[in-house]
Amino acid sequence: MSEVSVQDACAYISKRVGAFQPRFGLILGSGLGNLADHIENPQRIPYDEIPGFPVSHVAGHAGVLVMGMLGAVPVVAMQGRAHFYEGWSPRQATFPLRCMHAMGIDSLIVSNASGGINPRFRSGQVVLIDNHIDWMNRSGLVSSEASQGAASAGLPHRVGNPYDSRLMELAEQLAIRLGFSLSRGTYLATLGPNYETRAEYRLFAKLGADMVGMSTVPEVILANQLGLKVLAFSIVTNVAKPDVQTVTDHEEVLDWSRKAQSQLVPLIQRILKNA
Ligand code: HPA
Repeated sequence: MSEVSVQDACAYISKRVGAFQPRFGLILGSGLGNLADHIENPQRIPYDEIPGFPVSHVAGHAGVLVMGMLGAVPVVAMQGRAHFYEGWSPRQATFPLRCMHAMGIDSLIVSNASGGINPRFRSGQVVLIDNHIDWMNRSGLVSSEASQGAASAGLPHRVGNPYDSRLMELAEQLAIRLGFSLSRGTYLATLGPNYETRAEYRLFAKLGADMVGMSTVPEVILANQLGLKVLAFSIVTNVAKPDVQTVTDHEEVLDWSRKAQSQLVPLIQRILKNA
């Protein structure tokens, strides 16, 4: 079966919304889709209507592409994302990001929910991701076909410093003006979909991770490859207690990430105004 191309998907999107060039792409993770409700004059397309778009069936991921103005900036927002653990290949899961790049974005803001490994973190806290550990071993650059693999083999893979320092500093300054401070942290991505055992939380702490989640890293690697500036936020929804018998569940994760939106939504709006 021949693969749908990014150009086909872009052509379909522009047929639906007309001429529109977004500057920022937003990938809104578990329970964070609310931000897209603040987009002015929104044009919405469900993923299942866009050729080639993967549809996530995970609760908290609406699966809608929303285009419009946010903080006076033209944006394209993904309300929900596809995960590798649902069975999507790296190429399928990152297809929407390739489309947003083809539409013209030069910057990307990513958000996710995570488990806090750093014991100083609290549930509901928003953390700036300033580094990551790829524990998925399946980057967004992996190709599904040998011919594509050969085509990308010669490209330099640029992921030394994946998060944009200027955008991070701007986010920190604006958070203070909004009355809270942002901590920075290293995000470790696992394949999921299961949460960690206590032994795994302990291991990840030793590896230097501050948060653990199941997304973001493949998209950030690809975004760097595409030359996009990247800013990423993680909402800590549960704090790992390796020495206590606790169970994490998805409802708790969604609950805390919805609560944290009251900080993250105005912060992202201000970042866009000032970027
Ligand atoms: N582990 C992995 N992913 C997560 C967690 C967690 O504890 N919490 C929210 N997403």
